[in-house]
Amino acid sequence: MAQGQKWLVLKFGGTSVSRRDRWDTIGRMAVERGAATGARVLVVVSAVSGVTNELQAICEGNDVHARMAALVDRHRAFCEELGLDADAALGARLAELQGLLDDPRAAERPLPWQAEVLAQGELLSSTLGVAYLRSQGLDFGWCDAREWLQAGQVPNRSEWALRLSVQPSREIEPGFAARFSSHPSPMVLTQGFIARHADGGTAVFGRGGSDTSAACFGALLGAVAVEIWTDVPGMFSANPRVVPDARLLTRLDYAEAQEIATTGAKVLHPRSIGPCRRAGVPMAILDTSRPWLPGTRIDASASAVPGVKAISRRDGVVLVSMESIGMWQEVGFLSDIFALFKHHGLSVDLIGSSETNVTISLDPSDNLVTSNVLEALATDLARVCRVKVIAPCTGITLVGRGMRSLLHRLSDVWATFGRERVHLISQSSNDLNLTFVIDEADAEGLLPLLHAELIRSGAMPVLDPGVFGPSWREIEFGRPQRREPWWIAARGDLLARAAVGTPRYVYRLETVRERAREMLATTAVDRCYFAIKANPHPAILRTVAGEGLGLECVSLGELQHVFATLPELPASRVLFTPSFAPRREYEAALAMGVTVTLDNIEALQRWPDVFRGHTIWLRLDLGRGDGHHEKVRTGGVAAKFGLPLARFDAFLAHAHALDIRISGLHAHLGSGIDDPRHWREVYAHLAGLADTAGDVEAIDIGGGLPIPYTPDAQDFDLAAWRAGLDEIKAACPRYALVVEPGRYLVAQCGVLLLSVTQVVEKDGVHRVGCDGGMNALMRPALYDAWHGIHNLSRLEDAATGTFEVVGPICESGDVLGRNRQLPTATAEDDVILVADSGAYGMTMANTYNLRALPAEDIIE
Ligand code: LLP
Repeated sequence: MAQGQKWLVLKFGGTSVSRRDRWDTIGRMAVERGAATGARVLVVVSAVSGVTNELQAICEGNDVHARMAALVDRHRAFCEELGLDADAALGARLAELQGLLDDPRAAERPLPWQAEVLAQGELLSSTLGVAYLRSQGLDFGWCDAREWLQAGQVPNRSEWALRLSVQPSREIEPGFAARFSSHPSPMVLTQGFIARHADGGTAVFGRGGSDTSAACFGALLGAVAVEIWTDVPGMFSANPRVVPDARLLTRLDYAEAQEIATTGAKVLHPRSIGPCRRAGVPMAILDTSRPWLPGTRIDASASAVPGVKAISRRDGVVLVSMESIGMWQEVGFLSDIFALFKHHGLSVDLIGSSETNVTISLDPSDNLVTSNVLEALATDLARVCRVKVIAPCTGITLVGRGMRSLLHRLSDVWATFGRERVHLISQSSNDLNLTFVIDEADAEGLLPLLHAELIRSGAMPVLDPGVFGPSWREIEFGRPQRREPWWIAARGDLLARAAVGTPRYVYRLETVRERAREMLATTAVDRCYFAIKANPHPAILRTVAGEGLGLECVSLGELQHVFATLPELPASRVLFTPSFAPRREYEAALAMGVTVTLDNIEALQRWPDVFRGHTIWLRLDLGRGDGHHEKVRTGGVAAKFGLPLARFDAFLAHAHALDIRISGLHAHLGSGIDDPRHWREVYAHLAGLADTAGDVEAIDIGGGLPIPYTPDAQDFDLAAWRAGLDEIKAACPRYALVVEPGRYLVAQCGVLLLSVTQVVEKDGVHRVGCDGGMNALMRPALYDAWHGIHNLSRLEDAATGTFEVVGPICESGDVLGRNRQLPTATAEDDVILVADSGAYGMTMANTYNLRALPAEDIIE
């Protein structure tokens, strides 16, 4: 039979070979993938699930005969399921398995015998598999992998490792592919996990070793690809069980895949990448039950997109911190201390050093837990330096290319860590790995936050379709239904408005009404004030007030604007929450009769007469802040807002002395807070304090509700927010619950329309220039905020070009969006729409460079 030399290697793991329908899948895949690639197919299989564990127990001498009998029964039953005659298909193999117990070596259980026992799982599964596939009419040959794969000879490894956790041989035998190709059948089935030991006996690659077998075959055959078919969709940007928003990584280069496999993901055995990388054979991880998903492809041509591709967490890390003034400019100090680690058989992972301190990490290993090796090491080290063992710690690793060029983007990631104690930071010189070691206790809940922050800051470029696929959540539950933005249907109207002149904000009042009604329909909420700083446009104020909301102001200017716009508005519907305002603004506000909030004792001390006898609210700092960016977190020591809890009693005493009644407690801890539980916690905290404060009747839990700016962000979970408030309100019903959202009410009602001025390519970067930038919308420049950017003139064109969208301001920070997909034909005078800019857009616009402020339009 004329046989081509091209091979495709497919590997199937334990769960993929444990049922009849799974073997049907293997047969179908082999035929389909072979036809698709024009290659002959080598299928590498693991043992039926659970079998290797049983063989392992037999190796350890546990219940040997009962286990053996159960294994024989299980395989016989499986033959029956497959419609095979067990004696014909598997008789000889089962006899060989049982024979191992009669082997004289069985008494002593030496390592070579154990390797042979362990090998039986794959030998059995491949033998019955090939019999079944043939019975289905497929032309499959079978081979014993030990005839083809050799265990490598690695120095300094234990006898155990050299038999039961071998490394593959690196030698590429000349003529291997030709020899293998002489196999008569077009498709061949073989075993994973097993190899030939140098002494002619059996060796195994260790757990997960079937990936390594497939990779070795692929490398030796120069295969077109090695495909690992498994029961997960591929590698993800974080462990999806912990971070459901983790994204499928569709394309990685070998080095990135190696780092991810080594530091976290269990999907691919780390040892399997080396052989394919050296031979330049592409690898793929694919999902047997969802073969239409893109999977993870690993090859050398993956484009070197800089950015964090994945984060992982490793617990049980032990740090050894060694402090000595003696090491400064001392020759050989490190060599001396590392000799001690070697002496105690400990392998060092990360290293951080300064003039007087060296801190290293040890990977979790049984050795550390079960022996007193650390104690012994510490005693030895104490002779040369001061030693501190810090454990248990967690290593959080960011993996990706070009980590160094990303550091500036990580400022908020640093801030996330800033709240924890970071013991060690290590950046690898291959520029692929940045690891933080923190206390294990601090790592709880950190990964989802960090993942979200990496996306938000742009450090993890999830919008790059060449690297990032769907999220785990989307794969499992389908893409969440987001409200379609109103501006798509209003496109014609918006283009007409843009023709009058840009930059121009356009606000749709119906959206404001919808959001206001959502707030009012929240039963637990007794009063809602709109934070007008988000958008004080008169039409918006009238709309919000018309729906029955109050208004929250932070300056005399805002107060005057409110009463100029709404002269009939009762003062009782206005709240004044200034920060570091001058005395006269408090006087004016109190004279107007609005509710005034104060957040420090000094104001009472300096201006006792201003406040004497009045009723006010007290704004507290609950000791923590939250929000979409460091600059909008308004609680915690770094923030200028709120009275610290430690001064609460002192404030009450001062107020009492001035005959001041405190009728409300207030806390607004930040803006754009994703966690819907935040507000119920604030209420619970304030209610606890209010109980001691006497006259309090209202508890204001601030604003801060987020909106989804990025395409993969979800709508705020209003139902969860309401449920949390219901619950806490039921627990402490004494107080009126007050909220004061800004963004949530108006962000999505507004768009910013700009015109393209110039499209320029410079050093490979294509830029779309617009007639408004950081002057019209400061959020991207100030907070690295992400807003959707669309070419409204060419909305039906595919957005296949990648552009940086910039404004006309003479600062390099004048960037509205990086790496944005827009139609390649984008040209001068096209109308660009910047989405979700109804909050903190116009209100923060400025005339820098003497550029005029944007116009504003209302859609009633
Ligand atoms: N209450 C107080 C006391 C506030 O300081 C703020 C906002 C709010 C309520 C309303 O917060 P919201 O619901 O809008 O998150 N310019 C930033 C936001 C700054 C928020 C300042 N204070 C941005 O564009 O993200």
